[in-house]
Amino acid sequence: MASLSSRRLAELVGTLDGRGPAYREIADRIRLMIVDGRVPDGSRLPSERELAEALGVSRTTTTRVYTELREAGLTRSRQGSGSVVAVPRAASATSSLMAQPDDPDHIAMTYSAWPAPPGLARAFEHAASKLPGLLATTGYLPDGLPRLRELIAQRYADDGLATDPDQIIVTNGAMGAISLVARTLTGPGSRTVVEGTTYPHGADAFALGGGRLSALPVGDRPWDGLDDVLATGRHVAAYLIPDFHNPTGLVMTDDERGRWARSLTRHDVVPVVDESLRDVNLDGIAMPPVFAHHDPRAILIGSSSKAYWGGLRVGWIRAPRRFVMPLLQARMMDDLGSSAFDQLVLCELLEDGGQTLAASRARARAARDHLLGELATRLPAVRVTCPSGGLNLWLTLPERVSTALVADAIDHDLLMTAGPRFFPGAPAAGERHLRLPYTQSNESLTAAVERLALAWECVATGTATAGEAPEIDLIA
Ligand SMILES: Cc1ncc(COP(=O)(O)O)c(C=O)c1O
Repeated sequence: MASLSSRRLAELVGTLDGRGPAYREIADRIRLMIVDGRVPDGSRLPSERELAEALGVSRTTTTRVYTELREAGLTRSRQGSGSVVAVPRAASATSSLMAQPDDPDHIAMTYSAWPAPPGLARAFEHAASKLPGLLATTGYLPDGLPRLRELIAQRYADDGLATDPDQIIVTNGAMGAISLVARTLTGPGSRTVVEGTTYPHGADAFALGGGRLSALPVGDRPWDGLDDVLATGRHVAAYLIPDFHNPTGLVMTDDERGRWARSLTRHDVVPVVDESLRDVNLDGIAMPPVFAHHDPRAILIGSSSKAYWGGLRVGWIRAPRRFVMPLLQARMMDDLGSSAFDQLVLCELLEDGGQTLAASRARARAARDHLLGELATRLPAVRVTCPSGGLNLWLTLPERVSTALVADAIDHDLLMTAGPRFFPGAPAAGERHLRLPYTQSNESLTAAVERLALAWECVATGTATAGEAPEIDLIA
């Protein structure tokens, strides 16, 4: 059973705003964090005495906090093992993980993922006609299908970055690539720089094997403050998302890339560059050259999920030669390769003259504009800028209520991810933000904004409640 230290829980609770009794404020914050998964189900909470010390409140206060949590049915007390988080399960719980875009009952806005665009079925059919050649092989392709590796290498070459197909390793999505790179580069105690605002599963992958994360300070841009963090000690890697950054949608400028490359080189830190969203360039803006132009030591990560379809589960790594064998060796303990057929399908998509990609971009552009329009009408107090690419809007809320909104929205059958989840070093800063993917039909997006407005009303009038938490924390 995982234990939550008093220091960590106090950090998560943050500074009290003193509007009501302290026990109520602390209990409410912990309750919301249990609901949205930041305080995981099954974890053991610190003792009342330890928490009182860490928060600088009286023991009577924390006793009342724990009593409230127990009476709300969110924890249970066990003789000798203190309070343990125990989220109740509804008898008929269907996992929110299964909620699909355009599900009329449950609008899931926790992931930015579309159903497949029309061209996908055609790509599967064409791939099927090429199966005989594939079936004559063993199908084990630890580095990937040769044709696909050539096509991916060619894309980099077209971008002016000479690449040998031997530098490409095909993986199970970008997430498979990030996990493999993280496992290869980091170990217990090693430190990785992550952006102040970032894609949670990507950052978490670098902490999985006992590594530590150094999050940049929260600034106007996710890339501010690198030198100060590097000055705090040795780091092995830096994980960054420079292209249509998830969640903010921002693009790192060429200047920023150059500065980052110089700093990381000086400190001998390997850049791990997540380019998953680079192809989702909705307005056709001129993109700065990929990061490896500035720093040839960079490990680049790409994916077919966002441009084409998440169900393909095909991503890739472009690695400097010295990393290729260690990465492949590390893969042997994992999955031995990716689906051969899905790789054939991606070959078809990369060779269709850009048809499917254009259709997928047009769909996202229209949805983005629709969601912006709905927000302007129903929630004018929310600030949002139109991203040129990616699949999310990044909202700035007029008040620090992200978690409360997300928790209340569950009762309106709208699932979202609370802002703090995107801020690994300073979760409290996320209370001002909310990420809304626009990967749904216009009808669903309209309904989602209506439900969000209802939740907003409940939070503003103090009548918000916390619905039952999704069972799995899946953010895409
Ligand atoms: C920045 C970023 N990296 C990685 C992923 C995971 O992508 P994949 O489906 O290719 O594993 C996502 C998914 O949303 C993402 O936004």
